[in-house]
Amino acid sequence: MKIGTIFTCQKCGSQTPKWMGQCPECGQWGSLVEEVTGRQLKRRDGMARDKAKLLKLDSISAAKIGRIKVGIGELDRVLGGGIVPGSVVLFAGEPGIGKSTLLTQIALKLAKQMKIIYVCGEESPQQVKLRVNRLSPLAKSDSLLLFPETNVDAVVAELEAQDPKDLLLVVDSIQTMSTTDLNGVAGSISQVREASQRLIELAKRTQMPLFLVGHVTKSGTLAGPKTIEHAVDTVLYFEGQRNGDFRILRSVKNRFGPTDEVGVFQMTDKGLNEVTAASFVSDEDLKSSRIGSAYTVVFEGSRPMLIEVQALCSRSFSPIPRRVVNGLDRRRCEMLIAVLQKQLKLPLWEQDIFLNVAGGFKVFEPAVDLAVAAALYSSYKNQALPGSSVFIGETSLLGRINAVGQMSKRISQAKALGLTKIFSSANLPNLWQIKKLIAEIK
Ligand code: TYD
Ligand code: MG
Repeated sequence: MKIGTIFTCQKCGSQTPKWMGQCPECGQWGSLVEEVTGRQLKRRDGMARDKAKLLKLDSISAAKIGRIKVGIGELDRVLGGGIVPGSVVLFAGEPGIGKSTLLTQIALKLAKQMKIIYVCGEESPQQVKLRVNRLSPLAKSDSLLLFPETNVDAVVAELEAQDPKDLLLVVDSIQTMSTTDLNGVAGSISQVREASQRLIELAKRTQMPLFLVGHVTKSGTLAGPKTIEHAVDTVLYFEGQRNGDFRILRSVKNRFGPTDEVGVFQMTDKGLNEVTAASFVSDEDLKSSRIGSAYTVVFEGSRPMLIEVQALCSRSFSPIPRRVVNGLDRRRCEMLIAVLQKQLKLPLWEQDIFLNVAGGFKVFEPAVDLAVAAALYSSYKNQALPGSSVFIGETSLLGRINAVGQMSKRISQAKALGLTKIFSSANLPNLWQIKKLIAEIK
């Protein structure tokens, strides 16, 4: 078969030889994506030629996979204990969050034990060198090689000429890679998909680990890494607020390890530092109690972490008061505001409300409800909550506080940090008892 391209509707699967704005079959707009046909011919020998056999489970040796430890604890844990040979890891995140910084640090660490080829499609080698100097000024390594190339076939050809043993390929980013077999520009769905397919095929064939960087845009994930998530082994999301220091590396898919595991980093002027502490609140802040602030313990992966919820209520002069929520689930916060209005008779409808999780964290656990309610109440009343207190619990629509899982771990974490007053469903069964808390300290 001749190699050609065809446009496939992503919704109904119908194909046309030409691009059209609307799919002629199902009527969907903008769903036609260019794809390569006749790929079989191009496949290198090896993979395609070996015919698969039926295997008995017993006949498959499940020898332990030899993982490569990076030496960055937070990352190794998220990967499930290190890099698996032949595995493909996608590092996804918004532009500017620190993906290239992290990958450069990984490359510098690993260069001590293996050869790294870093395809820098986004930056010039000089820019990467500047970053290396900043991260590790003394780094001198012959085993870290930069490859300023955006043609995926040239990358595959170069890698095929290398010995795949003890080799790691980093592609920063997949959106800059393209093949001339397709007409679309780099970054389009078809190019991203095709380029990653060719790289993944190479990694699987040579048992070389492959790290892909993928940009996620705020406005949507079209042409983003979402289109290749199913094809890779591990998807790690790098998140955090760009102006906050903390960055969370979250595994959302991992064929070789746990999901929902997180690694925590802090961006400094010398790159990303691991954060191993269980608290993101400074010791000084912990001792004082401030108006509109409430502490809680949430789980980030398997780790209990102390975080601070901040609330600000201020008189609104607009017919529709503002609700600005950072790091929390906005709908859930709106529900909590409504519950507070109804159960505690707080006139929050005339208040602009701002809610935030300190340090740029994102928390979507219902266990944070009680802390949000307490912080809101404290800000509205303009009085601080009792010192050394922690609020852990889920709030129901009726104002009841419900218990949450892994309570004993949360409590011991809070106590370890010197927060001794634990408020939860055990001693605060209803939301209106928050009133008593502030009254008591007066
Ligand atoms: P970068 O890794 O280039 O982000 P991405 O590849 O995800 O787009 O880094 C983004 C920001 O990090 C950039 O604004 C500068 C900052 N930064 C530091 O604060 N310290 C450092 O040591 C480095 C290398 C970058
Ligand atoms: Mg980058």
